Amino acid sequence: MTIRSHSQGAALSSVDPALADARQQLSSSRTAALDAQVLLCHVLGVPRSWLFAHGDAPILEEQHRAFRALVSRRAEGEPVAYLRGFVEWFGLDLLVSPAVLVPRPETELLAEHAIAYAVRNESRSVAEIGTGCGAISIAMASRLPNVEIVATDVDAEALKVAATNLQRFGMSERVRLVPGSLLSPLASPPDLLVANLPYLSRAMMMEVSPEVLHEPRGALLGGETGVELYQEMLRQMHDRGWRIPAMLEIDPRQRAALCKLVETVFPGAGLGFEQDYGSLDRIAVIEP
Ligand SMILES: C[S@@+](CC[C@H](N)C(=O)[O-])C[C@H]1O[C@@H](n2cnc3c(N)ncnc32)[C@H](O)[C@@H]1O
Repeated sequence: MTIRSHSQGAALSSVDPALADARQQLSSSRTAALDAQVLLCHVLGVPRSWLFAHGDAPILEEQHRAFRALVSRRAEGEPVAYLRGFVEWFGLDLLVSPAVLVPRPETELLAEHAIAYAVRNESRSVAEIGTGCGAISIAMASRLPNVEIVATDVDAEALKVAATNLQRFGMSERVRLVPGSLLSPLASPPDLLVANLPYLSRAMMMEVSPEVLHEPRGALLGGETGVELYQEMLRQMHDRGWRIPAMLEIDPRQRAALCKLVETVFPGAGLGFEQDYGSLDRIAVIEP
């Protein structure tokens, strides 16, 4: 691992003091030390392990300037993923921008359960509604080589990010991206529907950390109660006569609302919940 030598520019600082300054600037964040390390690695192009053995290594003036600029933006609450331009998720380096929600660790569980469900039930087609940067569909395509996958989003900018990610993973032919709201882009029922649609209620939006407010509102807010988009999607399924399984990421506090909703739209339907890393109900599995 090499970083640029002195001869390529004036050294202004070194690793440990630069990190100490950044930690101080980020001290209001619970992840100040980690964020400082990750951002410095990003600027230097080194892995995090390198930092621990190279506390005295010099940092060139331009690198120090770039680092401080990122730290200032982080201090303003910008998510680290936007500052780096990518996030590690499901073992994939996914490009992200402020046009898309940063995929969350709990959504890896949705992808895993959806993959397992598709394998168990020999699904031949899957539709992901609200794909954002394409994370879930890319994860599914990587594990289900024979399954046809359609990914939709109502936001054209999000679909551009998804298209770039698909290209990077050589999956443009594997996942078909279609614009549109809820089920409107789908001509026929898939064997499985997967969705992590915006599900925050207005009250929940008031409670989120300032960092989350840097993400697109249209990727977060589900409506007054938060489950409105899921309600509308289930209604559309019902109206089209599509009695197909659907796996939905929810907020654990929405369990009761989901139960009521499913019972209203599809009385007697199967409904189960999968838990997240905190053992909270995070994924609703609906089998009409
Ligand atoms: C919570 S984000 C999830 C993104 C991605 N699936 C993930 O898990 O990281 C919700 C996504 O749904 C999209 N969306 C919002 N309303 C929609 C609608 N009516 N139909 C389709 N997509 C919608 C948003 O643009 C956003 O990309």
